[in-house]
Amino acid sequence: MGSNGNQPFYSTQIDLSIDLRTQVVSILNHALASTLDLKTQVKQAHWNVKGMDFYQLHELFDDMASELEEFVDMIAERVTALGGTALGTARLAVANSILEEYPLEAIEGKDHIVALAERYAAYGKLVRDDIDETDDLGDADTADLFTEVSRAIDKRLWFLEAHLQTAPVLLETNGSAGKSDADKAAKKMAKAKRGAK
Ligand SMILES: [Fe+2]
Repeated sequence: MGSNGNQPFYSTQIDLSIDLRTQVVSILNHALASTLDLKTQVKQAHWNVKGMDFYQLHELFDDMASELEEFVDMIAERVTALGGTALGTARLAVANSILEEYPLEAIEGKDHIVALAERYAAYGKLVRDDIDETDDLGDADTADLFTEVSRAIDKRLWFLEAHLQTAPVLLETNGSAGKSDADKAAKKMAKAKRGAK
């Protein structure tokens, strides 16, 4: 799960075992890295988007970055509430993020929308997996935190994809319908990230 070992834990009277807290903190810190990475990528889009849709996308991307900044804070402070150490520097974000680097050649609105939709889909899958994992571990509060993030990310993915969804698709009835687009996006991103190292 990346370089997040040997972090100090602090004693707390919270009624959650140290074993549960260590596992949940590891999941939270992993999510924190990707959330920080995604936030800086959305800012990159906010600053550099060009074209006739400049102003509305510039504003939309800023709202999305502000929302992610709130999630960064929520996730990091859940780590410290559990007695852990938040791993939130830029270097740690790079080391532990699931996302690949933002395409610096993106110019017009559509380039940025496509790049961000891919990243929101991959990040959305991570967060949804984290809901299940923390719920299974027995930390309903962290699962609820991730659920709040997940709902907002799904909404933003809709905002992004609505720019691209100009015609409805026919629903597939063959075997390939089982793989979601997010699964494919996450796989593609993991592959590209491995290739970049
Ligand atoms: Fe700005």
